[in-house]
Amino acid sequence: MDNFQSDNKKKMIEKEWTDLNSKIKKHNYLYHGLDQPEISDLEYDKIKLRLINLEKKYSFLENSKSILNEVGFQPSSNFKKVKHKLPMLSLNNAFNENDVFEFINRIKRYLNLNEGQEIEIFSEPKIDGLSISLRYTNGLFQQAITRGDGEFGEDVTENVRMVDNIPKSLKNNYPSELEVRGEIFMEKSDFKTLNELNITIGEKVFSNPRNAAAGSIRQKDSNITKGRNLKFFAYAIGFSSSEIAKNQSELLHILKVLGFKTNELSKKNRNLKELNENFKNIEMLRANLDYDIDGVVHKVNDFKWQARLGNISNSPRWAIAQKLASKKAQTRVIAIDVQVGRTGAITPVARLSQVTVGGVVVSNATLHNEDEIKRKDIRVGDYVIIERAGDVIPHILEVIKEKRNNNSQKYVFPNECPSCKEPLIKSEKDAVIRCANENNCESQLIEKIKHFISRDAMNIEGLGEKQIESFFKKGILNSISDIYNLYKFKENLIKEKGYGEKSIGNLLQSIENSKNNYLDKFIFSLGIRHVGKKTSKILASNFNSIKEIIDNFDETIDQNEPDKILEIDQIGEKSLRELKVYFSNKFNINLINNLLNYFNPKPLEKTKAEGKLSGKKIVFTGTLRSISRAEAKNIAENNGGIVINSISKNVDFLIVGDSPGSKKNKALEIGIKILSEDEWLSLIES
Ligand code: IVH
Repeated sequence: MDNFQSDNKKKMIEKEWTDLNSKIKKHNYLYHGLDQPEISDLEYDKIKLRLINLEKKYSFLENSKSILNEVGFQPSSNFKKVKHKLPMLSLNNAFNENDVFEFINRIKRYLNLNEGQEIEIFSEPKIDGLSISLRYTNGLFQQAITRGDGEFGEDVTENVRMVDNIPKSLKNNYPSELEVRGEIFMEKSDFKTLNELNITIGEKVFSNPRNAAAGSIRQKDSNITKGRNLKFFAYAIGFSSSEIAKNQSELLHILKVLGFKTNELSKKNRNLKELNENFKNIEMLRANLDYDIDGVVHKVNDFKWQARLGNISNSPRWAIAQKLASKKAQTRVIAIDVQVGRTGAITPVARLSQVTVGGVVVSNATLHNEDEIKRKDIRVGDYVIIERAGDVIPHILEVIKEKRNNNSQKYVFPNECPSCKEPLIKSEKDAVIRCANENNCESQLIEKIKHFISRDAMNIEGLGEKQIESFFKKGILNSISDIYNLYKFKENLIKEKGYGEKSIGNLLQSIENSKNNYLDKFIFSLGIRHVGKKTSKILASNFNSIKEIIDNFDETIDQNEPDKILEIDQIGEKSLRELKVYFSNKFNINLINNLLNYFNPKPLEKTKAEGKLSGKKIVFTGTLRSISRAEAKNIAENNGGIVINSISKNVDFLIVGDSPGSKKNKALEIGIKILSEDEWLSLIES
């Protein structure tokens, strides 16, 4: 082709490209803006596909502003945040029959039932979807909120309106205010069709039906949601202005009467034997269901008992999720890399030849530690069986030794940190290999920042791994506290790959919002070993500020005052040890003080009940006859009391059960008021 011809062709392509762009723009407006499409979805997809292919084929189009990159096409997370009227809880897991047996025994002990006494347990498939809370006022659908962090969710009302089997008005008798909770999901067959379509039109391919369901709800355009054919199963209620059922099995019946779809495999079990049979039955049916499930939820049927059992931090004591067996596949190890975690722990990772396990594309598996590699003798080049259980990163079950190459070499663990090159150290305590260069290792620091901003921690959106690395290299982000100085570099940030004026604005706003976090999120964000979400919440509900916590560990303060932390009986020894290590390190205290220059985490809003025992300190000793110790403690706290473990002059009451310990003598010595179990119960009931 001579120059003249090729110039002409280029012009023609550019013209077609411009036409396609304006066509799509017009039809977007007709469809989204006016709700009056003039062409079918199929025709629309064809036009779009032509544009995608043109852009793929002719690189000179890259610099043009394509409609395909416009915001309307991107999923958005700019939904309004809404506080749940009642928190949306998560569930503890059971991995086998024994865990379920223990769960039931714990309940019996708590409720002070005889071991032989049976409790009705209601079991339901655990739907692998997106949990949602639906608000109805006078029977009319008002609002839909995602689970979010359990306390605050996102308002996705307009998209949820598009889910056909969610009733927009309730049937029969309903409370004037009612929150119905359940799972939005995509059927496996719809998921398959959607991905096939997305592949042909060059759109995003979802990794599993759950992501597809979540992606369909958490994007801006409710017409897209409409086309996705999502479904909903109802399985619980949140706030209700009047009682609608006395137990779970009755509740599911009522929800059905109100117009909801409930899961037909849900069943009441009279005893553990029935429960186990029911679990096996669901396990057997799993593959033939047209929706993904990842376990079976067992719930104490009786609501009165549920209320007595209450919650432990974010999960109910009255329910447990029994996990279903995992999914397996065969693949090959391409390489073994090591990664540096935020606490310096070095974890080996197997890079795998891509394989699909239960619908999810997998290319990495965790190898846990050096011992695991040695024990299983995993080598680069080996064929292996991998397993994926629930959401957990897959791991290698076994090596297929028969397929091993003769000249394969045993894996040798590195002796220096892949990031900062400092020598690695093996800890005697936990057999973990660590990079001890805690405060100067780039990888550790980046991981610490990633943890700090993560959703359950300070929840700062818009700062990706690549950008953190890039900011680190440029010296803009050398420490966690530098996040709060990022605004000073706004001009530099805008030039960064992946950022524009708008996304920088969102990031800086998100950083600003994070200053309003509560103390528990802040403690969790520090990334202290063995201090997860639960421990952080427990700590936050026992102290008013991070300063108070630091002082508690400062040995130069108040030698005579017993450590408050020791009185918090829910904090385990391991966490306690790590908290001491963390708060006695000057570097950490400096970091916290730096952060406190920017904000002060809010104390938890005390939901502490007011009652007969308001502000009173109470100690229990001996065995109680009518209720368990755990329930006694909760009753005391629900009446405003503070339950502590040791006797001191600050204690108001000692409640004495059968065969009391040394606490009784000590209380007599100091002159603390002693109450019998009956006296105590009648004090509360009076
Ligand atoms: S009951 C207080 N029932 O599992 C417990 N949850 O890990 C409230 N889920 O966020 C949940 N199927 O999204 C319950 N039949 C079922 C469920 C179910 C799925 C999800 C739910 C929750 C998560 C807890």
